[in-house]
Amino acid sequence: MESKRAQWGSKLGFILAAAGSAVGLGNIWKFPGKAFEGGGGAFLLMYLVIVPLVGMPAMLSELTIGRASQSNVVDAFGKLGHKGYSWVGWISWLTAFIITSYYGHVGGWVLRYAVSYATEAQAVYANPLGYFYNMLGYDPVSETTFFPWMAIVFAAVFLFACGLIIIRGVQGGIEKFNKVGMPALFVLLLILLVRAVTLPGGNEGLRYMFSLDMSKVNVHTFLIALSQAFYSLSLGMSIMITYGSYLPESEDMPKNTMLVCVMDTLVAFIAGFIIVPSVFATLGPDGVGKGGGFAFVSLAGVFEHTPGGAIFGLLFYLLLLFAALTSTISLIEGIVAFLTERFRWTRTATTLVVCLVLFLLGCLYTCSQAAYSIHGIWFDFANGISFPNFGDAMEFLTDRVMIPIAALGTCIFVGWSWTPAAAVEEIERNGVRFGLIRLYSFLIRFVVPAVIIAIFAVSLFTGTTLS
Ligand code: PHE
Repeated sequence: MESKRAQWGSKLGFILAAAGSAVGLGNIWKFPGKAFEGGGGAFLLMYLVIVPLVGMPAMLSELTIGRASQSNVVDAFGKLGHKGYSWVGWISWLTAFIITSYYGHVGGWVLRYAVSYATEAQAVYANPLGYFYNMLGYDPVSETTFFPWMAIVFAAVFLFACGLIIIRGVQGGIEKFNKVGMPALFVLLLILLVRAVTLPGGNEGLRYMFSLDMSKVNVHTFLIALSQAFYSLSLGMSIMITYGSYLPESEDMPKNTMLVCVMDTLVAFIAGFIIVPSVFATLGPDGVGKGGGFAFVSLAGVFEHTPGGAIFGLLFYLLLLFAALTSTISLIEGIVAFLTERFRWTRTATTLVVCLVLFLLGCLYTCSQAAYSIHGIWFDFANGISFPNFGDAMEFLTDRVMIPIAALGTCIFVGWSWTPAAAVEEIERNGVRFGLIRLYSFLIRFVVPAVIIAIFAVSLFTGTTLS
């Protein structure tokens, strides 16, 4: 006997969970740096074009595949009668696996910093870079490396917490946690926004974010905005298929898709309006960076020079923590759903094993940051074979290769094999006519695949860093 498939308990529960997945580290520390580099307001404008024209049809398609198949990502294509596309599911699943292994570790670092600001903000201020490296197993003073136990212990705690929430199930764990975590995230975001825009000198940064520097609008920044949108909306990674599979037939999927996309974009923009003005006010325009080093190192300078800085530092890392938790949970759910359904393993055992394996794989990521020189293999057409740091290799592989391939496979599946007509039939199952059928079909058949191919080609053939 098939056991009854889990479902979301309420519309709000689903929306918050899907938004929780989308709103993640990508919104809060990747987006502001990219928006800054991509010309401030000009980048925001490009992003506002991309989300409705590319992000929304892609997300709607993933949710629809999930609901129609009532299945995990790997089996979804077969259940819809197209077993030949199972490879798309496998790639999505594997991408989720690799991403979670390092995303979960970064979540641990965030937890570490929340604790640091609560207990020893002065130590972070005294030597921001040294503090960061020390967490990762490198002492810049004596130039020695050691096992990064601090980062690793916190990663273990973070992943274990995610596991506990997943074990409690779709409604009892994921939905419940998001119903608390997401409102908390919005409140923190608003507090930090008020602080940032009222900082003396913050105006300049705000003005930059509203200015349209059109000289920065080019193919390169456009592609950066595109790949950021895919990552930020959690597309190409099995999440929206899995979350869609828990949706009841009565749900209005186009409306839900729009709400999730709007929320995700809003949070990214607000994060931009927090980070860019704060950095302008305290460190000057040169202080804006985009990677993890920025989030952990440069921001220390911001909080040090902000009145009430340690408290705002703590609130900021709590914000990041909620964002990271709800995203990691969605990723692990995508992984676990497949294993429990395909192999009939129990949810609890599967979750624990998955979290353990993710944790161990992620240790290679964390250890390769500073402590040990662990290398991956990377091939690109422009530069041949290279052996980048293991962590970078993982990010390249997922962001540059696997996500675009899976996202492309998914929209070609909907556009050309399963057909938009079948998708629309599923979308309209709630009895409401979908008013944008022709636009949706056109976007999913032509526009979305074309832009994904463009991202892919540029990143593979030019060796340009898109992340
Ligand atoms: N969308 C998340 C972010 O912006 C990252 C993520 C990707 C989460 C894929 C889940 C799945 O950080």
